[in-house]
Amino acid sequence: MGRGPSKVALPIKPRPRRFSFLEFPWLCSRASPARLVPSAAMAIEAWFMDESGGDQRLPHHRSPPEFVSLDHLADVGVLYWKLNPSDYENDEELRKIREARGYNYMDLLDLCPEKVDNYEQKLKNFYTEHIHGDEEIRYCLEGSGYFDVRDKEDRWIRIWIKPGDLIVLPAGIYHRFTLDTSNYIKLMRLFVGEPVWTAFNRPQEDHPARKQYTGSLTEKAGVALAAH
Ligand SMILES: [Fe+2]
Repeated sequence: MGRGPSKVALPIKPRPRRFSFLEFPWLCSRASPARLVPSAAMAIEAWFMDESGGDQRLPHHRSPPEFVSLDHLADVGVLYWKLNPSDYENDEELRKIREARGYNYMDLLDLCPEKVDNYEQKLKNFYTEHIHGDEEIRYCLEGSGYFDVRDKEDRWIRIWIKPGDLIVLPAGIYHRFTLDTSNYIKLMRLFVGEPVWTAFNRPQEDHPARKQYTGSLTEKAGVALAAH
């Protein structure tokens, strides 16, 4: 299994480059210009986290476990597709998603203790709660890890991404990332235009992206009420 930065050839202006580790925690993408219906097949696992603290790489299920549906993730603006990671260079479905959402930028990251200096400290840095001014788009090709997002009630939802999982976190959502106990993940990063990796640590209630995000949640709630 290759773990170094890789060159790939994708149909839409591929821009592979070497990974700068310091960039990693704050990887995001601009809002997409198009809508695409995410995969209906729920293959990703997500659950409400316990509040016990301890090793962030552990699952942190509640007791008993409380799983979260794809609908609940969609309610907070998280999008999800299940793709074939073994053929990502020729994957027509991935090409269509990139084209429809304008994700012309792409690169690959390999994260594991052998590749990263001060791995334990960097892991803690990844885990700082933050937002971005753009979407964060990640496609897991190998290994696994956790993206944690806050829901409307400010509860942590843990999303376990594994090979084939493509997720989009909306701009303005509070979130964080950690590897799991496998200590290895290979991720594709996607972005609209030149990537901006800046992170803004919580609190960010006055950040324009945060205001827009919370406003979109309020609008959704209004639509749901009007439908009854
Ligand atoms: Fe982030």
